[in-house]
Amino acid sequence: MKHVTSIDDLRTLARRRVPKAFFEYADHGSYTQSTMRANRIDLDAIKLRQRVGIDVDRRDLTTTIAGEAAALPLVLAPIGLSGMQHGDGEILACRAAQAAGIPYTLSTMSIDSIEDVASAVEKPFWFQLYVMRDRGFVRELIERAIAAKCSVLMPTLDLNILGQRHCDVKNGMTVPPEITLANLLDIASKPAWAWSILRGKRKTFGNLAGHVTGMDGVTSLATWVSRQFDPTMTWKDIEWIRSIWPGKIVLKGILDVEDAKIAAATGVSAIVVSNHGGRQLDGAPSSIAALPAIADAVGDAVELLFDGGIRTGADVLRALALGAHACLIGRAYVYGLGAGGAAGVTKAIEILRKELDVAMALTGTTSVNHVGREVISNLTR
Ligand code: GLV
Repeated sequence: MKHVTSIDDLRTLARRRVPKAFFEYADHGSYTQSTMRANRIDLDAIKLRQRVGIDVDRRDLTTTIAGEAAALPLVLAPIGLSGMQHGDGEILACRAAQAAGIPYTLSTMSIDSIEDVASAVEKPFWFQLYVMRDRGFVRELIERAIAAKCSVLMPTLDLNILGQRHCDVKNGMTVPPEITLANLLDIASKPAWAWSILRGKRKTFGNLAGHVTGMDGVTSLATWVSRQFDPTMTWKDIEWIRSIWPGKIVLKGILDVEDAKIAAATGVSAIVVSNHGGRQLDGAPSSIAALPAIADAVGDAVELLFDGGIRTGADVLRALALGAHACLIGRAYVYGLGAGGAAGVTKAIEILRKELDVAMALTGTTSVNHVGREVISNLTR
């Protein structure tokens, strides 16, 4: 970890340490991966304005996110199967986020359960919710999140059917995750990973155990999702969720202005402008390309969070400049988790914090709460 200076370094390490099937599950996008690539390409193409002669000695990176104090404008995004990047991955990532003073979001598709994480950390965390066909089970998940004192519920709208990630089919990703003959050799060459998984609390989806039909046998990820997830989900389901969940809601998976207007009108605390890390609709615009129009349409009505391709602190600044209030990071911290458990996640957050701080200073920005389009150089203002 000593020689790690960038998120790319963490990715290189994670690729070496984590079995191919799990590394690629997190790393890859759907189909041709054009949307996943666009997330990065479009962020890179946004040039920042270098400004001088401004006193930037004091820089404030603190903010509030969905009403919670945060040390940085960052949230750890919900990541399915993060406990397969490192044993007890969810607990470790949550602890690292809380130590850094930023929110952590537990995925419905986590390995450690809501209760496992709640009993292992000090502060409330956020819970991401998929709407499954079995509404009784969805209600149960919400009630478990209430009992665990989760502070935000994050229904996710853009995965009611699974966009195929070719790697998962080729690598034989299954539910529950299985060690097959094909990946046994790979796993044998990753002893540190195997040891961490052996010592971890669970080896399969902690939130779903015993509750969802289809868990009795092994099925492909795609088949399982199509059996469990509900393509009939509509905005009415958000109303239903609101009738059960008394706390704050952050809606994730908005990429279109019309949808953003509907989402804002529901009165939720925030929405996440996202294309699911380029893992769903291949051919959709990058998140950063979608952000300005959404900010123009609803930026005054609802807090805007952003995800999709954040790999540097400068990327965070780019998103803030185009209307995001804070950014979710997914792969950026998952690489850290695979590379070195909690220390790797802490490293990822620290890298982004330092890079954001420097980018702020060199653009003459002194607070993350006052970043506008004036920090972008190649934009018609
Ligand atoms: C789940 O959220 C996934 O993108 O695989």
